[in-house]
Amino acid sequence: MSRLKNDTFLRALLRQPTDYTPVWLMRQAGRYLPEYCETRKRAGSFLQLCKSPALACEVTLQPLARYDLDAAILFSDILTVPDAMGLGLYFAEGEGPRFERPLRDEWEIRNLTAPDPHVELQYVMDAVAEIRRALDGSVPLIGFSGSPWTLACYMVEGGSSDDYRRIKTLAYSRPDLLHHILDVTAQAVVKYLNAQIEAGAQAVMVFDSWGGVLSEAAYREFSLRYLQQVIAGLRREYDGHRVPSIVFTKGGGIWLESIAAIGSDAVGLDWTMDIGRARELVGDKVALQGNLDPSILFAPPEVVAGEARKVLDAYGPHAGHVFNLGHGISQYTPPDNVRVLVDTVHEHSRASRAAQENR
Ligand code: CP3
Repeated sequence: MSRLKNDTFLRALLRQPTDYTPVWLMRQAGRYLPEYCETRKRAGSFLQLCKSPALACEVTLQPLARYDLDAAILFSDILTVPDAMGLGLYFAEGEGPRFERPLRDEWEIRNLTAPDPHVELQYVMDAVAEIRRALDGSVPLIGFSGSPWTLACYMVEGGSSDDYRRIKTLAYSRPDLLHHILDVTAQAVVKYLNAQIEAGAQAVMVFDSWGGVLSEAAYREFSLRYLQQVIAGLRREYDGHRVPSIVFTKGGGIWLESIAAIGSDAVGLDWTMDIGRARELVGDKVALQGNLDPSILFAPPEVVAGEARKVLDAYGPHAGHVFNLGHGISQYTPPDNVRVLVDTVHEHSRASRAAQENR
């Protein structure tokens, strides 16, 4: 970590002491920033923005130019992997992501293969390398992927879903086929994340955004098991440095202890669980990342600051906290409130550390 000017985020993920609590925000580069909307317009579309390493690099850096964030996250999307598997990703205006060829037939499922990250996904590796150069050691770069279960949801449903009818039908009538999808996807995710690490990602995060729609038994069988497989396949070190991993299951608070046991360095929490209680449940087994409700950013600045302090105080004086939102930042967020949040996290956590030392 010697070449990094600010390695607070990596140290917190490894549960080492830090002078203050590091902060970054899920979806920190996005539509709440007018400069993002401007670059996206120039790119022509969201997908073209993802597929241009130069423009992906430009938008990755935009939130860092405005705010004192402690990490950058690769600008891309979790759905680039199924796109590279041949499903044909597109974004219908105002409707979110869609696939031209969702997985519906047994023969399509049997023909699924893990893409070579250096062929179909080389544009992502180029973006990672370009962002690393542009960051010039200022803060670490996070790489990411969707979890096998969350990717399978989109691949089988063909887009976002309210009820997960198609994938749950598959889970309960042809679990063998779903396990095949998850197995191939887990292999794809491992290769994809390891390629990001080799291209320059200094930490990696796995987004299991839809794990929380499952029953506990189904979560273990269709999501957690494959998360564990992914974590087991990741490079733990690259270029002489530890590469910490973060697993985030939205709605996973009720299974926190099981999630903390799969081998990742950190667990991401949504806003539903008190982070102090989460800390008590996991002890010092993993670092915790979270967990302010993103809707708090719609409130007046003094409320934003007060709620951020509450999360920090709930976590308490232990090492191993990375401050974040409990899910992605909304496109309707006032940009000035993000500054209030980031600065409050830094100031309050510094002051709390100092008060702790003087006791
Ligand atoms: O955090 C970051 O700044 C990195 C960028 C990032 C994006 N998507 C950019 C994006 C990351 C980490 C993701 C992950 C992602 N993508 C997830 C997992 C995290 C989560 O939110 O649970 C999921 C489920 C997706 C799939 C996806 N991509 C959806 C459902 C949508 C549409 C929803 C929306 O907000 O419009 C996207 C599009 C998308 N991905 C946008 C961005 C900035 C908005 C696209 C635009 O500019 O129009």
